[in-house]
Amino acid sequence: MYLISHKVNKFRNIEICDFYPEKGVNIIFGRNGQGKTNLLESIYLLCGARSFRTKCDADLIKYGETESLLRSAFFLSEREQKIDIFISKNGREAQLNRGSKMKASSLTGKFCCVLFSPEHLMLIKGGPVERRKFLDTALCQISARYLSELKKYLRVLKQKNALLKEYYRVPDGDHILDVLDFQLIEYSLIVTKIRREFCEVLKKLSKEYYGLISGEREELSVFFNSSIWKDDVAECSSGMDIMRKNRELDIKRGYCGFGPHRDDLSVFLDNKDARIFASQGQQRTAVLSMKMSEAQIMEKYLREKPVLLLDDVLSELDLSRRGYLLESIEGFQSIITVCDTATVSDNSNYSVFEIEEGNLIRN
Ligand SMILES: Nc1ncnc2c1ncn2[C@@H]1O[C@H](COP(=O)(O)OP(=O)(O)O)[C@@H](O)[C@H]1O
Ligand SMILES: [Mg+2]
Repeated sequence: MYLISHKVNKFRNIEICDFYPEKGVNIIFGRNGQGKTNLLESIYLLCGARSFRTKCDADLIKYGETESLLRSAFFLSEREQKIDIFISKNGREAQLNRGSKMKASSLTGKFCCVLFSPEHLMLIKGGPVERRKFLDTALCQISARYLSELKKYLRVLKQKNALLKEYYRVPDGDHILDVLDFQLIEYSLIVTKIRREFCEVLKKLSKEYYGLISGEREELSVFFNSSIWKDDVAECSSGMDIMRKNRELDIKRGYCGFGPHRDDLSVFLDNKDARIFASQGQQRTAVLSMKMSEAQIMEKYLREKPVLLLDDVLSELDLSRRGYLLESIEGFQSIITVCDTATVSDNSNYSVFEIEEGNLIRN
C-alpha cells in the first residue's frame, strides 16, 4: 500500500499543504519547529488511531481555527481509495471513499502505517502501558477480530471495575461477578492467543534485526508476559478458578488486577533487562528492531506493505546503522523527516521535500 496524495488544511502550523509522495523513500527536511512531525502526525491519523502526541483532538486544529481537514488518496487492494478526516473540537470524523461519515476510529485496518519516533524509546524505558499500546496499535490494524474482542473485553472490564467499587452495596454481587468473569475470560483467551502469536514472531524477527543492525554485538530477546496465563492459554474453567481465587483481593483493591489489561512485554539484551542495563544507543536499536519487525509482521498478515513514517530517527544513528536501516526499508514507501539533508548522504534516489513554517515544497 502507498500514499498517493495527502492534502492538509488548517492542521497544527500547516495552513494548507498538498503532499504527493513517491512510492519509495521520501525525505522531508526542515529546521526544528517547522512542521515535520506535524505533517507525519496528520498522515498517521489516516490509520484511524488517535494522535501519538495528544489525546485531545482540538490540539490538532490550527490555532485560531475551528476545523481541520485532511483529504488523502492511497493505493490498496489494487485500487485507489480515499480517506477524508474532519477534525473539530468534538473529535475526528471520517469518510472512506466518500461514503457516509463515521467515527475516525472505524477507519482501522484500511490505511496501515508503522510510525517510529524518538518518543518510542518509551517502549523500553516506560511502563507496561507503552508496550501494550505497541501491541494493540499493531494488532488492531491487522486483525479485525482482535480489535473487536479487545473492545468487548475492555467494556466488560469497565463494568467489573464499577461493580468492584460498589461491591458491598450491590446485592448478589458475587453472582454478577461470576457472569462478568466468565465473559472476561472468554475474551481474554482470544486476546491473549493473538498477542502470544504476534509476540512469537516478534521475538524471532526482532532478534534477527538487532543482530544485523548492531553487527551481532548483543542478543535481543523480546517476549510476552501474560498476566494470567504463564505458559499456554488456559481452559475457561481454570481461568474461572484464577478469577475466583483473586476475587477477594480485587474487592479489596476495588479493581480487577488480572487479565490482558495487565500484560507486558519483556525486553532483554544478553539476558539482562534492557530497561535497566541497556545504553541509550542499545535501547534505540532495540526499538528500531521491534518497529521493523512490526512492519514485516503487518506485511505478512495484510499481504500489503504498510507505509513507514520515520520521525527524526536517522540523525541519532551512526553511519553504518543508518545505512542498514535505509537498506532494510527498501520496497516500503517511507516518509522520513530529517533536520539536515546531510543526514542522507546519497539522496539522489530519494524524493526530497522541504518544510518551512508549515509550507511544504518539493526540491
Ligand atoms: N494547533 C497548532 N496550531 C498552530 N501551530 C501549532 C499547533 N500545534 C503546534 N504548533 C506549532 O508547530 C510547531 C512544531 O511543529 P513540529 O512539526 O513539531 O516541528 P518539527 O519540524 O521540529 O518536527 C511549533 O512551532 C508549534 O508552535
Ligand atoms: Mg519533530
